[in-house]
Amino acid sequence: MNTSRRDFLKTLATGSTVSVLSMLNPVETLFQEELKNKFSDGSLPTKDDYSLDKQIKYLNHGSIGTIPKIVQQAHREYLSLCESNPWFYMWSGEWEEPIENVRQKTAEFLNADATEISFPHNTTEVYNLLALGLPLGSNDEVLFSNLNHAGASIPFHIHSQKRGYSVKVFDIPVHDLTNISKEDILDLYEANISSRTKLIVIPHIDNTFGIRQPVKEITALARSKGVEFVSLDTAQTMGMIPVDVKDLDIDVVGTSSHKWIQAPKGVSVAYFNKRIHQKLDPMWVTWGQERWKDSARKYEDYGTRNLPEVLTLGHSIEYQSKIDSTLKEEKLKNLWHHAQNLCEQNNNTVWRSPTDWELSGSLFVIELAGVKASEFAKQLFELHGFVFRPFDQYSTIRISPNVFNTTEELDELFDLV
Ligand SMILES: Cc1ncc(COP(=O)(O)O)c(C=O)c1O
Repeated sequence: MNTSRRDFLKTLATGSTVSVLSMLNPVETLFQEELKNKFSDGSLPTKDDYSLDKQIKYLNHGSIGTIPKIVQQAHREYLSLCESNPWFYMWSGEWEEPIENVRQKTAEFLNADATEISFPHNTTEVYNLLALGLPLGSNDEVLFSNLNHAGASIPFHIHSQKRGYSVKVFDIPVHDLTNISKEDILDLYEANISSRTKLIVIPHIDNTFGIRQPVKEITALARSKGVEFVSLDTAQTMGMIPVDVKDLDIDVVGTSSHKWIQAPKGVSVAYFNKRIHQKLDPMWVTWGQERWKDSARKYEDYGTRNLPEVLTLGHSIEYQSKIDSTLKEEKLKNLWHHAQNLCEQNNNTVWRSPTDWELSGSLFVIELAGVKASEFAKQLFELHGFVFRPFDQYSTIRISPNVFNTTEELDELFDLV
């Protein structure tokens, strides 16, 4: 980088054109070399590939993920490059190509077209956009279950009051999820979809009980009943399990890529199927937006933005794409299975998530008899370095491991329980 910076200053001094691409190339080259070295033997990432404190047993990827060191390094380079000439590195038109490269990589990751990809801040932003921008009138209803996250529910509750559409929330019973089947879930959707249902919001895996919903079947059912829009909240899945937007036949996908994509906070990925570009209005309106009228870029256009994070997001996606998906699933399934066995053997714990991997994922909850979950989580963090998410209202703790977590960490956790 130093040589390149010197070259850059020389170029400025001689008055010739500065190329952003030439300044970014060394970062890209270094990242590609490190990525190749990292995945040369096809093995999964380990804890050493991240900056986590050695004392921490991090089982909370469902709240906030952690960024691989080689991605962090690229992020730092972009930050310092941008600060070397803030105006130039924000507004030079030459950013177009690098950003479009990130869009292309993201599109490939999701099996989408690049014109269908936008970079919002997070999932909550995408649901605000839908609650405000979809053509929803007084005869229309937005439908979702009690397992929808607040960030994907509250925008509809609030904006429906001003805009005059209705919101219907149905209950997925959570007291006995261990035996829930795909058919049970589909029956609930079938019973609740009506001729008024215009939009369905599905959490791919919800954050409280970790049910993986049969999205393809729900979407087919919705289409057969004339539902116009189906949206998928992949905050807990994009980066954990494959998300193929075409195969799932989805209209809109929101996510929070700081979780399983392991990207910087404050930038994320969204998918808007081409067929809705003319139906969904942007939430942010500003100058020059007409040029994006046929592209999902109009949903991210809000003026000055976080370019170093957008570029880094591209590296996070490449990093996740390089992880062998079969090995990854095996590892996550193995940890999930191991936790279930430990739970069965432990008199103080009850498994509260589905017991079928197809309806579950690397986010599951365990009920602790007679214990205040938040107190327990606090103690286990302070005394033993465990990080997981407590839910006092259900007396549960949520465990969401990623590929570098180990069965030994789970053994230790259950011993402490
Ligand atoms: C399923 C789900 N949806 C939406 C969100 C909201 O995410 P954000 O605050 O990044 O918008 C979360 C956060 O945990 C989540 O788990």
